[in-house]
Amino acid sequence: MKIGLFDSGAGGLSVVKSLIKSNLFDEIIYYGDTARVPYGTKDKNTIIRYSLEALEFFNNFDIDLLITACNTVSAYALDEMNSKSHYPVVGVVESGVLALKREFIKRDDLILIIATKATVKSKRYQIHLENLGFKNIIAIQTGLFVPLVEEGIFDGEILDATMRHYFRDIPTPRAIILGCTHFPLISSSISRYFNDRPLLIHSGDAIVEYLKDNYLLFNRGGGTDLKIFASENVSHLRDIAKYWLSL
Ligand code: DGL
Repeated sequence: MKIGLFDSGAGGLSVVKSLIKSNLFDEIIYYGDTARVPYGTKDKNTIIRYSLEALEFFNNFDIDLLITACNTVSAYALDEMNSKSHYPVVGVVESGVLALKREFIKRDDLILIIATKATVKSKRYQIHLENLGFKNIIAIQTGLFVPLVEEGIFDGEILDATMRHYFRDIPTPRAIILGCTHFPLISSSISRYFNDRPLLIHSGDAIVEYLKDNYLLFNRGGGTDLKIFASENVSHLRDIAKYWLSL
């Protein structure tokens, strides 16, 4: 099975890691819109336009399914992308919420969503969670984590100060939805900030479970071949992939 994976930049590699580990796919075509990242600060129309343009890139490949690893794209552009493609386009918001639902979490436990400005504004996560009966939800924009991760800062003083800035008024949640591709890379630091008490929901692991439940997946044998493309500076993206994925 050959799948596409679209992200605004390098962050989607955190999802690739889970997809490769699952060994359910023959080939992954990764496209990062590195020339125009970040999407999380942009408005709805721009996010939809960029996402539809990304579909044109995938026309060059005969993919069976496309994953939008980017939470911001998943929050805004899924319907439009699905209406313009002949393969299913699957986002990460619903799968993240379903992963949380599978856990034994009381409906009045505190759920913290951390995501980009656009994702929080879309209220996609909040609405899904409310529909499942969760009553105690806090969603905060934590966009500064994105450039830190891009800089390779996964722990240390700057990250600690940024976490203090964002989390200073937040009581320890029961679960945290890492609602942005970049956040799994700093999940250990986030967990440590809250004394390792919250359960962390990671889009990559969640999407694998979601795909297994909803699609017929197959790997003809062997491992998963990863091909990386970008709208700018692809060699930099490939270097990040080598580091993040230990290729
Ligand atoms: N990929 C984005 C997301 O998951 C984060 C980076 C960006 O703002 O483009 O929301």
